[in-house]
Amino acid sequence: MDRIWQKAYDKARKLVEKMSITEKVNLTTGTGWGSGPCIGNTGSVPRLGIPELCLQDGPNGVRFTDFVTHFPSGLAVGSTFNKGLTYLRGKALGREHSKKGVHIMLGPTVGPIGLKAAGGRNWEGFGTDPYLQGVLGAATVEGIQDEGVISCVRHLVGNEQEHFRQVGEWDDEGWDKLRRSLSANIGDRAMHEVYLWPFADTIRAGAGSIMCAYNQLNNTYACENSYLLNYLLKEELGFQGFVVSDWGAQHTGVYSALAGLDMTMPGELFDDWLSGKSLWGPLLTRAVYNQTIPQSRLNDMAIRILAPFLAVEACFLPTDDDLPNFSSWTHHTFGQQYPYQHYGPIKQQNWHVDARSKFSDDIALNIAREAIVLLKNDGHNLPIAKADGIRRILVAGAGAGPDPKGFKCKDQRCVEGTLTSGWGSAAVTNPYVVTPFEAIAEKAREQGMVVDYTSDVWEFENVDELSDYADMAIVVVGASSGEGYIEVDGNFGDRNNLSLWNNGDELICHIAEGCRKTVVVVNSVGPVNIEKWIEMDNVVAVLYAAPLGQFAGQAIADVLFGDANPSGKLPFTLARKKSHYVPIITDISERDDPQDNFDRDIYLDYRFFDKHNIRPRYEFGYGLSYTNFVLCDLKIVEVCPPSEYLPYPEEYLPVYNTCEDDVCDPEDALFPHEDFAPVPGFIYPYLYNDNIRSLEEDECFEYPKGYNPDQPASPPLAGGGLGGNPALWDVLYEVSAEVKNDGKYKGGYVAQLYIELPSTLLPSPPKILRGFDKVFLEPGESKRVTFEILHRDLCIWDTLSQQWIIQTGTYTLYVSSSSRKVELSGEIDIGC
Ligand code: BGC
Repeated sequence: MDRIWQKAYDKARKLVEKMSITEKVNLTTGTGWGSGPCIGNTGSVPRLGIPELCLQDGPNGVRFTDFVTHFPSGLAVGSTFNKGLTYLRGKALGREHSKKGVHIMLGPTVGPIGLKAAGGRNWEGFGTDPYLQGVLGAATVEGIQDEGVISCVRHLVGNEQEHFRQVGEWDDEGWDKLRRSLSANIGDRAMHEVYLWPFADTIRAGAGSIMCAYNQLNNTYACENSYLLNYLLKEELGFQGFVVSDWGAQHTGVYSALAGLDMTMPGELFDDWLSGKSLWGPLLTRAVYNQTIPQSRLNDMAIRILAPFLAVEACFLPTDDDLPNFSSWTHHTFGQQYPYQHYGPIKQQNWHVDARSKFSDDIALNIAREAIVLLKNDGHNLPIAKADGIRRILVAGAGAGPDPKGFKCKDQRCVEGTLTSGWGSAAVTNPYVVTPFEAIAEKAREQGMVVDYTSDVWEFENVDELSDYADMAIVVVGASSGEGYIEVDGNFGDRNNLSLWNNGDELICHIAEGCRKTVVVVNSVGPVNIEKWIEMDNVVAVLYAAPLGQFAGQAIADVLFGDANPSGKLPFTLARKKSHYVPIITDISERDDPQDNFDRDIYLDYRFFDKHNIRPRYEFGYGLSYTNFVLCDLKIVEVCPPSEYLPYPEEYLPVYNTCEDDVCDPEDALFPHEDFAPVPGFIYPYLYNDNIRSLEEDECFEYPKGYNPDQPASPPLAGGGLGGNPALWDVLYEVSAEVKNDGKYKGGYVAQLYIELPSTLLPSPPKILRGFDKVFLEPGESKRVTFEILHRDLCIWDTLSQQWIIQTGTYTLYVSSSSRKVELSGEIDIGC
């Protein structure tokens, strides 16, 4: 992989050597909100055949267009614990983005990681564990990029809540005094072991781009945090691609450039859309001409932006034949060239290209099925069978039917129907939705059952009567959340509480009063409080489903009727009390400068519950099946003897990014000709006048303290390769166990490997996920599950020596079907 980047850099450098300063600046700066078909568009370099690059959300499908698949959310993917399927979803996503002409896909999301149960965007990512996020994030990146589309991994780092992520967004509820975005204050150990961990995996997988977050990190904005971008990301993790700002997350021009930002999107300052004013664009041009920003830094930005296209397997730069065939700003087929600006001649805007395929459908449906987690099945009432006397079915709950406002609700802010995703930039326009009622009714009819549906969630007279009549009632409830720019029913992105929406609790209690076999399907963006009814005798079965995309109802019905055997596992802990979760900060503090101290340190989710011996309702990794599995015969084989410290890295990344001949003709900085008519709001790299002069030798710009324009000559010990020191990925042990399907249904089993590290130097959580393997077995069949334990899997981050260290002592390994249910255990002794 390192070699691939080296070659890509060589090619990119040759191109950049031919560019003028304004051409390079054009690659770094968005043309402005709405100034181009995509959610973000760079300038072009027509002289060298490089078109405007198109950046488009997002992680669950192509945003702001039609005829695309709405895939299950990241959280659903996390619930499958299935690496192979995750890779295929990445491929399907990449293929659809490519068919729409997108060059850079904004996803996957591995931050937020889910520190706060009510965090608005947790459903975009793969679950509340760095290992899970890392493995599935990397598989997604590989899938996307194997289709020739560059993946942009977001959001670096600490965007664990939506409240106060951006100043301009919070003008309600007395929050208008907010001066700076919330500061996520993260300690060095948690940064390495939790928050950066998944980013390291995606970098190793070759991610071409990373999006820096809106929030501040330790009181410096993430997109101008030199320690984060220059040091941790580019030096320690050896990231070779480009860093793009979240939309409007750039706050300074020179400082962000020197701090390691490579591309600013959408071009202007936050909420200054259409102003045409940018912190870069012409200002970056000027800063390079007057040497405030070294030209080598601009070259580095341009090379980093082009190199990813040459590093992925397709290995070509987009050309004029690969342009977007849709517009994010209108759904009409024809419209003005710049629909958002209402400017320009009438042109075709949307070709309505059908990007879907059987491949996409299969992946989307399989993931939706595999994501469903069976939490409770007392008396084995599921799967539904006529043989068990089920002839009269009632379906209820807002989540079971269509939303009265339709399936295509802008950025999925409508929450009164089947939940296909949360809201915000990761939402996709549904091509259609198979609702639970539709799919359940079809199956029930096929079996000669009678079936009814009520969407009434407030008036119970009729509901009570229907429940009393039904042999089985299926209640679909849920909760939604999303991005901070949209407020839904008083929820500003983050959820205000963990209660069920649309009167879910009361509805379940009413129905369970009347119907002895009540099945609850919780379809939500994360943990919800189920304490009011989970122990009711008549609530015989409960399913949890993260947002499942367009096939939500189909997958739910397949599991209910046994056409699919549930194999999903909870990607977070379902607590008994809200107080066991980290709260959202909703107070901007007296200084109007909210501080979010990540006091949980490395004790994220189940690690915290385990440490304090708190009994969860359902633990991380939990999930039942219709069949029964047994595990035996644990084997631990040493592949390579572990060493306490990492070897010094042999090679160094990043490679040097200097260009031979910098072209800097002052004429290039000016608008091409005097009667050039700029498009309103469009950001050009040019200056209006020719007052460009070079600084005299003795009036050089003083760089910020610690900034060194020269590339570092030697790597830090933790660095030296993609994702960090290459030895971190050495396989030290192979662990395996035998799984047997001992029941009567075919089914999938997720074997999980947790490790308890010794506390020789520093205490660690009782158990840390370090492997998972999913197998599918026919009744009576056995297979071996295998796990590779890498050097990094046994490490702690030592903040004093700034190293990954394998402590001496005993490591206990647990192979289990959840983070609490241990089937097998063994030990490794290191160095004592
Ligand atoms: C979100 C990003 C998204 C961008 C462009 C921002 O508000 O935080 O995740 O990629 O908008 O839509």
